[in-house]
Amino acid sequence: VIGLASAWRLTQRGCRVVIVDPRPAGAATHAAAGMLAPVSEVTYGETALLHVALESLRRYPDFVAELEDLTGREVGLRREGTLIAATDAGDRAMLADLHAFQAELGLTSTMLTSRECRSIEPSLHPDVRCGLLVASDHSVDNRRLADALLAAVIAGGATLVKETVAEICVDDNVESVTGIVTSAGTRHSAATVVLAAGPWSAAIAGLPAAARPPVRPVKGQILRLRPPTGQAVTTPLPEHSIRAISHGHDIYLVPRADGELVVGATVEDRGFDTTVRAGAVRELLRDARAVMPGIDELELVEASAALRPGSPDNRPIIGRTVIDNLVVATGHHRNGILLAPITADLVAGIVTSTTPAADAAHIDAVSPARLAKVPAGAGR
Ligand code: GLY
Repeated sequence: VIGLASAWRLTQRGCRVVIVDPRPAGAATHAAAGMLAPVSEVTYGETALLHVALESLRRYPDFVAELEDLTGREVGLRREGTLIAATDAGDRAMLADLHAFQAELGLTSTMLTSRECRSIEPSLHPDVRCGLLVASDHSVDNRRLADALLAAVIAGGATLVKETVAEICVDDNVESVTGIVTSAGTRHSAATVVLAAGPWSAAIAGLPAAARPPVRPVKGQILRLRPPTGQAVTTPLPEHSIRAISHGHDIYLVPRADGELVVGATVEDRGFDTTVRAGAVRELLRDARAVMPGIDELELVEASAALRPGSPDNRPIIGRTVIDNLVVATGHHRNGILLAPITADLVAGIVTSTTPAADAAHIDAVSPARLAKVPAGAGR
């Protein structure tokens, strides 16, 4: 999604873009749940990320409207909000802390009683004792979004090369990049290379160590459920995205207008492993049904695993590198879908040297320079 969104904005600025990817938006973008939830996910010590994420969320409605108008495709932006449910005293205390932290940061959320939670989400588990409603946290259908972006970049004149990048080519003085070579041996020359290869960004051949973004793969296993075709279910699907801590794990359930319910996700440091494990599926279902028992009636239509690009401080890495015409856009960790609009604007501004002054603080927050001393692959 980061590569496609950036490509779209670059084509709009008159750049001639070649996208080299064997399966565009086929990895974490395809597996993701599409939560746009900077307020629910706000974390101590990560306020720099929060500001970038809030700005990206602010840009989302226009980003989606423009994309939908251009392509005639709906991308399923839902604005019902997110409800964080608490089922025991520990969860209740955690929600009270989160609510206080959000208020301290000027963010709006509302504590709800058990009865209030059930009045807006009747299928919550009877054990839900209270909740925190974050009306401003939304969701989008990430697969539809990626399809629309691909259509938009092709309509904008970009060329799609469905091959793997084998090497980024660097000149003899290691001062500039000259293009890329694909695994099929085809060379594409370029004035600028935008490296947006998710967790693989650190490992592409050709670059000196100092130019490689320090990203690592963070595995997520995730499920997709839906009402069985032609069969009525007695429990309504949620209207809001639902989150909870269950058995010590963060669980989320994200509904789609077409009846799909996305349940995720594990967060695992297991290198480049994308095996779907039976134990993870069991735990995700166990944790999800602790909040919404009616999911038992749904069909399990997909279990998948993908790799988020983790960075050392959980902030994305976007900007020029020690090689001036190599721009990186990776490290989005759990927030790739959310951060796509702002990332695309920043990349387009950097590549065309037209960054508006209003984006300067965001550029600083995500700049590769802040991590200059961190070797590629670090950051656990
Ligand atoms: N943004 C949710 C996840 O990465 O699981």
